[in-house]
Amino acid sequence: MSTDDLIYEIFSPLSQGAPGNDASTLRALDAVPCCDSVLQVLDLGVGHGRTTLILAETLQDAHVTAVDIHAPFLENLARDARITGVANRIYPLLGDMAAIEVAEKSMDLIWAEGSIYVIGIQCALATWRRWLRPAGCVAFSDFTWWTDDPSETPSRFWATEYPEMANENSIRSCAEAIGYRVVSSFRVPREGHDAYYVPLEARLAELAGHRDAGVLKVLESIQEEIDISRRYSDEAGYTFFILQRVEN
Ligand SMILES: C[S@@+](CC[C@H](N)C(=O)[O-])C[C@H]1O[C@@H](n2cnc3c(N)ncnc32)[C@H](O)[C@@H]1O
Repeated sequence: MSTDDLIYEIFSPLSQGAPGNDASTLRALDAVPCCDSVLQVLDLGVGHGRTTLILAETLQDAHVTAVDIHAPFLENLARDARITGVANRIYPLLGDMAAIEVAEKSMDLIWAEGSIYVIGIQCALATWRRWLRPAGCVAFSDFTWWTDDPSETPSRFWATEYPEMANENSIRSCAEAIGYRVVSSFRVPREGHDAYYVPLEARLAELAGHRDAGVLKVLESIQEEIDISRRYSDEAGYTFFILQRVEN
């Protein structure tokens, strides 16, 4: 089994693939200026589509294009959108977010909860700015350092698992240099991390009987992330950023 297949086997029964919860999604959405005029939304790396459903339900005139590279996630989203009554305003798009074609200045809002790492913050923000209409917004969340002087254990772990992990100030400076105003940013609270880690830990326990050494190694690495994230919860965690395109 490839690592990608294994990751999808682990995550397929889970409702989310990154820290965050409905409260933090709504808090970020509340910070978006002029929400009432948002008509075109691009939600990238949506997983099962928790955020897509919130965006479509809250922004009642908006059309939300929901992108993911894993077809079963989008099938679940399409089913849930029908159940919730918003299927007429959600367009699931199967594809690589690094390769999709989006017209310049066509989007009012680009959302990327827990998925900007796929492209990398700098490249993503530069590309997405071109897709945004003037004064359009980006909202994304990502793992960030919350200290300039991390302990050795998280420092060593993240140097291997996510060497590009930045701190909040460097992300702000990067966004400003590319042509955004930082409207707001906030650290996702502990409950938002638990909403992800508690079911994930239960899922790891279900899979612990696996015999394949490669599989067990991946499970151990995810458990290590959970343990480090909890033990050093004041040193690193998910941060939400809400940015607005400004003209140079
Ligand atoms: C960490 S999960 C976050 C999922 C969801 N946004 C959430 O918060 O629960 C990352 C998601 O990005 C998707 N993904 C990974 N690489 C991708 C790519 N190149 N293009 C589009 N989606 C991708 C994965 O299938 C997965 O659903």
